[in-house]
Amino acid sequence: MTLAVRGPAIPSHVAIIMDGNGRWAQKRGHPRAFGHIRGASRIKPIVEHAQRLGIRALTLYAFSTENWNRPQAELDALWKILKKFLAKEEAHLAKNNVRLRVIGEIERLGSDVRQVLDPVLERLGHNTGLQLTFAVSYGSQREIVRAARHFAMDCVGGKRNPNELDEGLFGRYLWTGDLGELSQVDLVIRTSGEIRISNFLLWQAAYAEFYFTDTCWPDFGPEDLDLAVASFQRRDRRFGGIGKVLKNDRSALDKRT
Ligand code: FPP
Repeated sequence: MTLAVRGPAIPSHVAIIMDGNGRWAQKRGHPRAFGHIRGASRIKPIVEHAQRLGIRALTLYAFSTENWNRPQAELDALWKILKKFLAKEEAHLAKNNVRLRVIGEIERLGSDVRQVLDPVLERLGHNTGLQLTFAVSYGSQREIVRAARHFAMDCVGGKRNPNELDEGLFGRYLWTGDLGELSQVDLVIRTSGEIRISNFLLWQAAYAEFYFTDTCWPDFGPEDLDLAVASFQRRDRRFGGIGKVLKNDRSALDKRT
């Protein structure tokens, strides 16, 4: 088994779709919320391991805009778990200089959640270590539409000119805008065997590598992150170019002509 090694080929920004909590719990005869509780407990070891590996940004898909359609009891359980996670882990995150951010329509969250979340974001928002982002009430299409609307409003207000819009400027209007160069995702991991993107970081993952595993999120551990990163390290990222090997072939050809 090839395990990841700390070094220059480590992905700077890893994003994880933490899927399979419900199925994991149901398979064991437990309510779905049990899977979410266990899933929340997987976050700390993954954050710690990401730091050990030298990953600079970690984005975790915790709740999508579509998840609002779940039964109220499951939503209540999820918000309770999030509040508990923040209360329990804030000190540890602070000690490790983790900068915590949230992306998504957080204005849709209940005031009880905001009362816990907002001060934690304020206190951890100035840290300079791992950029840990929870995507909560997040949908990538919604993010892009809101960015477009925001840019259009700035044009109407005279602050911007439509002709200056390019990918870099548009990226700054997205919720990930303040991550700067780190906003582009290098590696997307999805657990639980599902092979789809589910409205997650569509813009930011334009050139990401993808890693899918059958392991459900409640069973995902540091060794699984190692496997994903090791898989990333074996990829030939060409960004639409012709890559190292092909480039060499091309120069050999050029010499012959
Ligand atoms: C997907 O599994 C998981 C979620 C919708 C919630 C993820 C939440 C956590 C890991 C815990 C709470 C989060 C934080 C930030 C502390 P699923 O329920 O869709 O599973 P299924 O596909 O098996 O039904």
